[in-house]
Amino acid sequence: MQVAPERDATTAGRDGDVVLRTRGLSKRFGPRLAVDGLDLGVRRGRVYGFLGPNGSGKTTTIGMIFGLVRPDAGEVSLFGADALEPARILRRVGAVLEGPSYLPHLSARDNLRVFGLLSGGMPPARLDAVLELVGLTARAGDKVRTYSLGMKQRLAVAGALLHDPELLILDEPTNGLDPAGMREFRDLIRELPRAGKTVFVSSHLLGEVEQMCDDVGILKAGRLLTQGPVEQLLAAAGVLELRVTDADAAVHVLDALPWAGAVTRDGDRLTVEAPPERAADVSRALAERGIYLRELRAQENRLEDVFLHVTGEAADA
Ligand SMILES: Nc1ncnc2c1ncn2[C@@H]1O[C@H](COP(=O)(O)OP(=O)(O)OP(=O)(O)O)[C@@H](O)[C@H]1O
Ligand SMILES: [Mg+2]
Repeated sequence: MQVAPERDATTAGRDGDVVLRTRGLSKRFGPRLAVDGLDLGVRRGRVYGFLGPNGSGKTTTIGMIFGLVRPDAGEVSLFGADALEPARILRRVGAVLEGPSYLPHLSARDNLRVFGLLSGGMPPARLDAVLELVGLTARAGDKVRTYSLGMKQRLAVAGALLHDPELLILDEPTNGLDPAGMREFRDLIRELPRAGKTVFVSSHLLGEVEQMCDDVGILKAGRLLTQGPVEQLLAAAGVLELRVTDADAAVHVLDALPWAGAVTRDGDRLTVEAPPERAADVSRALAERGIYLRELRAQENRLEDVFLHVTGEAADA
């Protein structure tokens, strides 16, 4: 499934609305093409989920965005400018990359103080503000080695937010968190656009991205299979379920609809791949042929269905 260009909000509007864009970004490691012609568009004030299975190229892409990995082809533009110098990127972008990014023998507050020193020192009020934002105020004086994994992840986000970046890039921040920890983390991320932030977050968990993100790009073996608003992708991969007065005849009518996907039949129950807003069109097309609905409903879609749709195979992300 491809999202029609005029409906793909990641390419719509002025380029100024897009804070991170890649064009044809590619990286080869020996014989292996790890990232293959990636065109990403991340819009301001959105949470963008960069979804892909293990080894699909997420970390390599993030490395290229930060200039830590040299692309073989293509380009990255941040805030509308190509090839920003690393120092200028770091001023406007916060990152939580793979691996621990804290000193375990210090408290959260002291860790943030150390991070702050790296960017010229931070006033105590700023430390308090980010601790509050990530929900660590009550434990801010405890040594980080006594923290749960979820608290450590939130500290990493606090560190990334300290210099008040416009864009936050997080590489698999929910790895290892339990469902409660994931929910807390999700709530934290969902809050950030309200503070004017844009978030780019990689994950291999479909459900996680579905609940946390406004937009998603689905990566597989280094290639972007689809990207767009989660809601739109879910709607486009929709399935309508119906029962009708004449199932045999209805199959032919549905098969002939140019905008409808696969039709299946089980007794008098039919399904047709079509977005929910096509329900009235289905009803009309059948009625015109003297076939009437006994029942019609839209199946609730999951990102997993979208993934199946675009890959044509079992979801392994
Ligand atoms: N430095 C490297 N040298 C050789 N191959 C590499 C290197 N870094 C990554 N790769 C390969 O590139 C591909 C993409 O790896 P990458 O780490 O970007 O995937 P990922 O999507 O982040 O995976 P994960 O979900 O496991 O973190 C993999 O096949 C990996 O083995
Ligand atoms: Mg990775």
